[in-house]
Amino acid sequence: MKYAPFEIERFFRQHEFSAPHGISSSDCEPLTLDELLAYASPQRRQQFDKLWLGYTQAQGHPELRAAIAALHTGIDPAQVIQVVPEEGIFLTLNALLAAGDHVVAVAPSFQSLWEIARAQGCEISFWQQRRTAAGWRFDLDELESLLRPDTKMLIINFPHNPSGCLASAADFERVIELARANDVILFSDEIYRFSEHDPARRLPSACERYERAIALGGLSKCFGLPGLRVGWLITRDAGLAHELQELKSYTTICGSGPSEILALIGLENWRALTSRTVEIVKANIALSREFFGRFDGLFWASFPQAGTITLVELRADAPVDDFAEAAVREQGVTVLPASVMLFEGNYFRLGLGRRSLPHALELLESVIVDRFS
Ligand SMILES: Cc1ncc(COP(=O)(O)O)c(C=O)c1O
Repeated sequence: MKYAPFEIERFFRQHEFSAPHGISSSDCEPLTLDELLAYASPQRRQQFDKLWLGYTQAQGHPELRAAIAALHTGIDPAQVIQVVPEEGIFLTLNALLAAGDHVVAVAPSFQSLWEIARAQGCEISFWQQRRTAAGWRFDLDELESLLRPDTKMLIINFPHNPSGCLASAADFERVIELARANDVILFSDEIYRFSEHDPARRLPSACERYERAIALGGLSKCFGLPGLRVGWLITRDAGLAHELQELKSYTTICGSGPSEILALIGLENWRALTSRTVEIVKANIALSREFFGRFDGLFWASFPQAGTITLVELRADAPVDDFAEAAVREQGVTVLPASVMLFEGNYFRLGLGRRSLPHALELLESVIVDRFS
């Protein structure tokens, strides 16, 4: 295969449906169909029940594109292309990059955000996360030094997977300025947007701020609807949009009709859905802070202001991979170690969005006690 195996997907393929207790998921407590339909207006409910199961419009359902555009400022529905979120990454990196292009990408990151560029023969410079006293950060001077006159694309992801880092508004503006000054395509993965604990901290979408930006969003994380497989690409650059749409004819062609109507119901109630997520995440942060603080400095974590995940360091003379392996074998608890996310350090990812986290941590406690006390 042209692409290296997608390690995180391979990991979840192996464990997600066999080990019952995950502590590393990045999505948030998914709604049931009943729960989502309870939000539907009578008109939407009828639209769903009477839906014709034919092919759908290639760019997405017009009402859905309008609802997605309405989440943004100054964006026209015509600038929205409906995609499966992961497909949005595939389309962008395949349609717009070629062998020899220079790309700057955040690291660590969701593997496809750079692997697809690597497989095409692009040269990649990584903009690395840094651990500071205040938590995880990305240094803007470092970004400036990575950008070159021939850089074709800058790939960012705020709130960040896996650290949960949310750039400040000033830092984000500087990213935009650097992209503009270097005339690069800015690919901004914003799939964790709308999970900010304080909505005032929500960053603008890159597509609102920069004409050569492509924003990727979707319902998989803080909207609690990953199974709908609904996301979007937005760009104000008609040339880029054309390339993306053309390539989509070789992937999904068009979206799933039932998912489109369910996504509309979700977006018509997005404030309720995202508030539900933020409440779950905040409760899990309080609980995790107490839980990991209980073991005399064995763990280090910084808890985010947005996003659904963070990194926890195991501060022991024992590889986190062994700990993760014991957790799944002894208690059926899935713990995603740094090695699967392709970065170094004794860290694992902690998912903060699931209601089952308290129970999974209870089970993990015996693995910790057996090994480290
Ligand atoms: C940063 C990031 N982008 C994109 C995606 C893809 O979303 P989906 O799996 O819903 O296609 C994910 C999923 O984990 C992600 O973490």
